[in-house]
Amino acid sequence: DGANTASAHYDMHNDIKEVFFTEQQIQKRVAELGDALTQEFQSVADKGETIVLVSVLRGAAIFMADLARYMNVPLEMDYMAISSYGSGTKSSGVVRILKDLSSEIKGKHVIIAEDILDSGLTLTYLLKNLASREPASLSVVPLLRKKVKEQAPIDCLHVGFECPDEFIVGYGLDYAEKYRNLPYIGVLKPEVYE
Ligand code: XMP
Repeated sequence: DGANTASAHYDMHNDIKEVFFTEQQIQKRVAELGDALTQEFQSVADKGETIVLVSVLRGAAIFMADLARYMNVPLEMDYMAISSYGSGTKSSGVVRILKDLSSEIKGKHVIIAEDILDSGLTLTYLLKNLASREPASLSVVPLLRKKVKEQAPIDCLHVGFECPDEFIVGYGLDYAEKYRNLPYIGVLKPEVYE
């Protein structure tokens, strides 16, 4: 599918060199994460305490939208937008909040649905920032954790998939703002970067 040489239409699937996680693998894993979180936060929900699923725009929005629908507990959904200072593809750890959460999280159980844990600098900043607001609990669930040499130690409640240290796109992850809408995760052909 996707090899439409006879057609002049642009086909984004043709830009993909290799698929790392298929749509089926992702949906199965996100369902497992949702089931696990449902069990883990059942007693919190039973006590009438508030659960908030938080994601960082824009990469984690698709993951959070799917994860929320696999969680069978009442929850709020909130979003932050941050910009990471520093050039290139490497994160600097110096983060500026462009859009803060819409609601207060004091006394609530916060679950951060993150797209990918790479250097860990972004999450380190975010955890420190959110912890200072005194949530009842603060958990991190990245869909992906890159196997990199240097990664800040982040205590994750769950990790969706371990992935190789390559630049990946799809399922929320972009290259130059494109490919977020691919239902799978993979790497681009080198010529796409040219
Ligand atoms: P750190 O290094 O702070 O970075 O853990 C996390 C953020 O960097 C982005 N990121 C990626 N985005 N493909 C992407 O499209 C990648 O391979 C990739 N690695 C890191 C992402 O926004 C993540 O939240």
